[in-house]
Amino acid sequence: MFAVHLVLSFFSKLQEDPTKKVDRFMYAMHLHDDQLSDISTRFQAEMKKGLSAESNAAAAVKMLPTHVHSTPDGSEKGHFLVLDLGGSKFKVLQVKVREGTGVRRGGVEMEEKTYPIPEELLTGSGKELFDHVSESLKDFLHEKKISVEKKHPLALTFSFPCEQSALNQGLLLNWSKNFRARGVQGKDVVQALRGAVNRTGGMDVEVLAMVNDTVATMMTCGFDDRYCEVGLIVGSGTNACYMEELHHIDLVEGDEGRMCVNTEWGAFGDDGALNDYITEFDREVDAASNNPGKQILEKMVSGMYLGELVRLVVLKMAKLGLLFEGQVSDALRTKGKITTAHVAAMEEYKHGLRNTRNILVDLDLSSTPDDCIAVQRVSTIVSFRSSNLVAAGLAAILTQIRQNRHLRTLRITVGVDGTVYKTHPRYANRLHKVVQRLIPECHVRFVLSDGGSSKGAALVTAVAQRLASQRRQVDETLSPLRLSGEQLLLVKKRMRGALEAGLKSKGPSAVKMLPSYVYQTPDGTEHGKYLALGLGGTNFRALLVDLKKGLLQNSRLNHKIYPTPVEIMQGSGEELFDHIAQCVGDFLDYMGMKSARLPAGFTFSFPCEQAGIDTGTLVSWTKRFKATDCEGHDVVGMLREAIKRRNEFDLDIVSVVNDTVGTMMSCACEDPQCEIGLIAGTGTNVCYMEELKNIEKIEQEKGQMEREGEEKQDDGAEREKKEEHAGIPKMCINTEWGGLGDDGSLDDIITHYDSEVDQNSLNPRKQRFEKLISGMYLGEVVRQVLLNLTRGGLLFRGQVTEALKTPGIFHTKYLSQIESDRLALLQVRSVLQQLGLDSTCDDSIIVKEVCGAVSHRAAQLCGAGLAAVVDKIKENRGLDHLDITVGVDGSLYKLHPHFSGVLQQTVKMLAPQCTVSFLPSEGGSGTGAALTAAVARKKLEK
Ligand code: BG6
Ligand code: GLC
Ligand code: GLC
Repeated sequence: MFAVHLVLSFFSKLQEDPTKKVDRFMYAMHLHDDQLSDISTRFQAEMKKGLSAESNAAAAVKMLPTHVHSTPDGSEKGHFLVLDLGGSKFKVLQVKVREGTGVRRGGVEMEEKTYPIPEELLTGSGKELFDHVSESLKDFLHEKKISVEKKHPLALTFSFPCEQSALNQGLLLNWSKNFRARGVQGKDVVQALRGAVNRTGGMDVEVLAMVNDTVATMMTCGFDDRYCEVGLIVGSGTNACYMEELHHIDLVEGDEGRMCVNTEWGAFGDDGALNDYITEFDREVDAASNNPGKQILEKMVSGMYLGELVRLVVLKMAKLGLLFEGQVSDALRTKGKITTAHVAAMEEYKHGLRNTRNILVDLDLSSTPDDCIAVQRVSTIVSFRSSNLVAAGLAAILTQIRQNRHLRTLRITVGVDGTVYKTHPRYANRLHKVVQRLIPECHVRFVLSDGGSSKGAALVTAVAQRLASQRRQVDETLSPLRLSGEQLLLVKKRMRGALEAGLKSKGPSAVKMLPSYVYQTPDGTEHGKYLALGLGGTNFRALLVDLKKGLLQNSRLNHKIYPTPVEIMQGSGEELFDHIAQCVGDFLDYMGMKSARLPAGFTFSFPCEQAGIDTGTLVSWTKRFKATDCEGHDVVGMLREAIKRRNEFDLDIVSVVNDTVGTMMSCACEDPQCEIGLIAGTGTNVCYMEELKNIEKIEQEKGQMEREGEEKQDDGAEREKKEEHAGIPKMCINTEWGGLGDDGSLDDIITHYDSEVDQNSLNPRKQRFEKLISGMYLGEVVRQVLLNLTRGGLLFRGQVTEALKTPGIFHTKYLSQIESDRLALLQVRSVLQQLGLDSTCDDSIIVKEVCGAVSHRAAQLCGAGLAAVVDKIKENRGLDHLDITVGVDGSLYKLHPHFSGVLQQTVKMLAPQCTVSFLPSEGGSGTGAALTAAVARKKLEK
């Protein structure tokens, strides 16, 4: 019987397991992983709401831009004063940052003093509060014997939500935690501090930066760990910040790089988003707080409130007779009697239960061992819920970062501070575990901020100082590349002068103005099968054009591209033309037309002195070509000889044209107003229809041509089709404008970088205009600027790598990619990586800026040149206004995201009386060569 009683009482004891009772009572505070995931998803949605311009005003989670762009990189230095206001302690500090990475340690020295803030100041006037802050600062300077004569940069860690439009400005949105000083909300806190410093007098400080404690914590930890891109506080309050992509932050202009966002997640739930998870105890805590209805998550999580939550639960359980046999003390009824320090003590590993009993004794409660176990359990559940909620929030932030970066896994460090995290014996551990469980795809390291947030605040200030000076230096480096309107007008004027000079002079001139013997653009009656050959960029092209009914759109194009090896471009002339003949042979084989003796047009994209449509003497090689024994020789002749040597097929080479001419001809087929051809590719050049009477240097031929022109004017049908000026005899002039400046006329805009590029080129002191504009050289100019910036320590951590020393790494293709607006910075980084350039995000921003400056200048210069050409045509015709079309080709024009736009804008600005349309050539200049051949043939047939 006795034994049975014993067993029963044993079982009833088991049933009364005090933790079970508490678990049942506090069921709502126990959050499962799926609930946490749900909270995490809701939080991520709130973050998005806060980031978006439309929903930000109504968003509970404010997602405040901090204007902190980068985490420390070890180059920060200087001595700073720091005020740390808003945590559980108010501190004044001096922080000395020595250059060198944090990992090496000892990079930072700190002296600090904590100043108590009298209770009444927390709720008094703002002016009194800031006066106290500034007097404490003055006291600190005296005590630490810091000179009051010198100006000291100062950073303020201010642990409340502030709307910042710059690093040294911030409007307090609302107080939180136990602060409530009057007259500060809605005001600029930095200004308030400056006012107080002035009132106090006797010190010279410059407030350079104000940061939230989360931001300062992230920066503190970032000094030792470059993966630290999240800052977390679980202290009197709770909050987190992280590095967000700028293009997600609607409230800040610019879409490049990152900025730290202070989430102010304490306010999560203020709009009801957490209602399903809120308990009656949370409601009570909120109702009795300084700021009812506000900071709902914070009140479930942070140190200001955890003790209260425990007290309210214990009180309720006691009242229900579940604890202390229903006994309730006055102390237990009193707000604030259980603190977070108590909660931590109750959960201590060894002495937790003893601590709990002592705490209960202090609360005038007599407790049984079971009561102690139960109260300890209450503490655990409350603090566990807190760390679970923080884990859910962090999971959302880390997921956002991972998604931003399009990564499957993420390696990241979270810098943490705050009394709860630091002093609660189990908090950190539980938090880490739950985060790991919620987002196993992220490898998260937690680093406790060493010595508080002040180091970080000083670093932000140092970064601000450094960035400001870096910016100045980058601007200085780029400024010679930035051309003013006046400079562009000058370039236009010089181009105009050079065009005129070239038309007159028979001797050498910078802009050669080579007659092309193309007298007219196609009229649509051209027909037949032609072989079009093209040599100019890096490839040799062969195509068969069938000008059926003369309409190019309907013509069938068959073509093949043969890359020209460098050995060929820069070998002997014979080898070069043998190579071309071999390619032609291959193409004819491929087309099955080897025996056809087709008429052929040859696009030869180099300056040729022509005496007729089917001959051309190479004046000088340009771009990447330097084959020997070609300059001064007829290229058509050389090609014919090579074909003869090959002895496989025969061709009737009817015409040789520059690529600009080919482009104009092919575009003119579509648009009769097309009387200009422009190439912006590997090289750059322009041709246009000039009036014969202006081409002084071909005086002898003119008489005959003018007579032909008059005959044409008699052709009534022709006259109807074209405008009045069509009757005036013209000839297309290949300007070879790339030579502008070869006589020194551009020396005032040519920079040191350009000179380097010129010196390293195949043709030093030649094609100076081309070297400022075209694709072959832009990348090299960029590389020179990058070298300069790197040597100045402004880029790539000052490391001049082999890749950077490699000529030609920046092809037009890469420039285009780097400058594409659709490319996120990370992708820019990966383009740079492909080129062997290991860049940080900040580096990528600068590289992109350099590319932008160089290509912008190129497009503007091209526009200035073109403005001179269109103005000249307008004046030739005596018109007030000219409508004209430019046929364009070239990789720079076609592929670069901004070149064409800037070019067009510039022409509009510099030639306001001309309406210039741009028509990209479809079939390339090759079809133009075929058309020229057809036009030439028609003429012969006549
Ligand atoms: C301190 C930081 O270590 O932690 C403060 O220096 C921060 O800037 C504080 O506000 C947060 O924790 P608590 O517990 O003091 O609010
Ligand atoms: C409060 C403040 C916030 C701060 C946090 C931690 O939530 O609003 O700015 O970061 O406390 O101190
Ligand atoms: C170079 C050549 C020129 C050509 C241009 C575009 O400037 O000298 O003839 O038109 O490149 O390819």
